[in-house]
Amino acid sequence: MKILVTGGTGYIGSHTAVELQLQGFEVVIVDNLSNSHADVVDRIEEITNIRPEFHQFDLIDREKTKSFFAGHPDLDGIIHFAAFKAVGESMADPLMYYRNNLDSLINILQGMKDNGLKNLVFSSSCTVYGQPDELPVKETSPIKEAWSPYGNTKQMSEQIIRFAVEAYGLKTIALRYFNPIGSHDSALIGELPLGVPNNLVPFITQTAIGLRQSLNVFGSDYDTPDGTAVRDYIHVVDLAMAHVVAVNRMISASGKSDFEIFNLGTGNGFSVLEVIKSFEKVSGESLNYKIVGRRPGDVEKVWADTSFANQELGWKAQKSLDEMMGSAWKWEQALADKKSSNKH
Ligand code: NAD
Ligand code: WQD
Repeated sequence: MKILVTGGTGYIGSHTAVELQLQGFEVVIVDNLSNSHADVVDRIEEITNIRPEFHQFDLIDREKTKSFFAGHPDLDGIIHFAAFKAVGESMADPLMYYRNNLDSLINILQGMKDNGLKNLVFSSSCTVYGQPDELPVKETSPIKEAWSPYGNTKQMSEQIIRFAVEAYGLKTIALRYFNPIGSHDSALIGELPLGVPNNLVPFITQTAIGLRQSLNVFGSDYDTPDGTAVRDYIHVVDLAMAHVVAVNRMISASGKSDFEIFNLGTGNGFSVLEVIKSFEKVSGESLNYKIVGRRPGDVEKVWADTSFANQELGWKAQKSLDEMMGSAWKWEQALADKKSSNKH
C-alpha cells in the first residue's frame, strides 16, 4: 500500500511517515521545505531502515502537482499535512495563508479527481471550534467564527473537502488535532521551530536549555483552577498512530460515512502552570518564567471529547503529560548536542 504524505518532512508528517513505514506502508513524501529540512528524510531512514521516496516542490504549483499525480496513479491514500500553521503570521499576511493552505488542497483534490484516487486524510485543528460553549468539545459542537486567517483556512478546507467528497465520490477523514507536543523516542526527529517559537512547549525547552531568557506565561486571570489557560496536549507519536488507523479505515472501507471527522486529543486539559510543573519535575530544571498579560486571540480553555475517536477508530492516546514533557526535553537536548558537535 502506497501513501502520499504531503508535508512529510515537517513535524507531524515525519512522525507519521515513520509509523506508516513501521506498519508496512510505502511512503512517498512531497514537501517544499518551506518549514523543514531535507535531512529529515535521512532521519526517517535511520529510524525505519527504509528510505521514503521524496519529491521537493510547492503544492500550490498546479502544473507540478498535476504531473506528480500523473506519475503516481497507484497511490492508495493521501495524508495532507502540508500547510502554513502560525496563527500570528496569518494575521499579518492572510493572503499568504489562504493561498498556501487552500490552493495546495485544491490541487490535491484535483489530482485525486483526475486520477481516480479515493482516500484522503486531512490535518484539521481544534482551532475550528474557537472557544467552545461546552467542554469537553465534541466533533458535533458548532464551528465558531474563526479567530485567525489560519483557523479560517482549516474551516474552509473542511467545507471544500465535504463538497468534493459528494461530487467526486471520495473518502475523507478530517482529524482535528488539539496541541501536539513531544518528539520521537529516538530523538532523531522532532519539532524544529524557526526563530522564536510561538508554542508553549518549544518555548519552555528553549528557555531551559538557555536559548531564551525567560518564558512569558500569557495570562493568570482566566476562569480556570489556577488562572492560566488550559489546553489538551497530545504526544506527536500518539497522533501519528491515529493517522495509520485512519488510513487503514479508509482503505478497508470500514468508515460510517465518506466524510468523517475525529478529535485527536487525550481528553485531559492542563494549565500552563501544570505544564511548567511537569517539565520541572521530569527535567530536574527550574524554569525561569514570569506571568504577563493575556496573548490576544488566545482561548481560555479547550479540551477534547475523545470518545468518538476512541470508539470508532479503536485508538486512544497513551502518553502522559510527564512523558510528553520528557520527550520534548530529550529532543531539545539532542538538538543542543548536535549544535555543539558541529562546532567542534
Ligand atoms: P510543519 O510546518 O512542521 O509541517 C508542514 C510541512 O509542510 C513543512 O515541512 C512545510 O515545508 C510543508 N509545506 C507547507 N506548505 C507547503 C506547500 N505549499 N507545498 C509543499 N510543502 C509545503 O507543521 P506541523 O506541525 O507538522 O503541521 C502539519 C499539519 O497539521 C498542518 O496542516 C497544520 O496546520 C496541522 N496542525 C498542526 C498543529 C500543531 O500545533 N503543530 C495543530 C493542529 C493542526
Ligand atoms: C498554549 C498555551 C498560551 C506560549 C496553537 C494554535 C492552534 C493549534 C495548536 C494549529 C496558551 C500559552 C504559549 C508562551 C504561554 N495549531 N503560552 N507562553 O495557542 O493553544 O494553539 O497551536 O492548528 O491553532 O493556535 O498553542 O502552544 O501557542 O499555547 O503562556 O510563550 O500556552 O497562551 O494558553 P495554542 P500554544
